[in-house]
Amino acid sequence: MDEITITPIKNGPYKVVGKVRLVDHQGIPYVVKETFILCRCGQSSTKPFCDSTHRKVGFVAEQTASAAPPSALPPPPAAGTAAPTASP
Ligand code: FES
Repeated sequence: MDEITITPIKNGPYKVVGKVRLVDHQGIPYVVKETFILCRCGQSSTKPFCDSTHRKVGFVAEQTASAAPPSALPPPPAAGTAAPTASP
């Protein structure tokens, strides 16, 4: 299996590298290359992909992996259940 890497870019999107199957909420696949960029700021007009709007809106996200201990992360959803949604 090829390794997949997802990198949160400082103050920007997620960079996804590797052979990934990306599907929409209906399970319909997007056509993606082996490297693509996903919006993390929520402001892109081409969601789920980044269109660089994060620069215009001043999106800030500087978290690092070392700042989030595994115990602080939510548990994964049980098989066959929907993932939890963020609170407003
Ligand atoms: S992260 Fe680039 S538009 Fe949202």
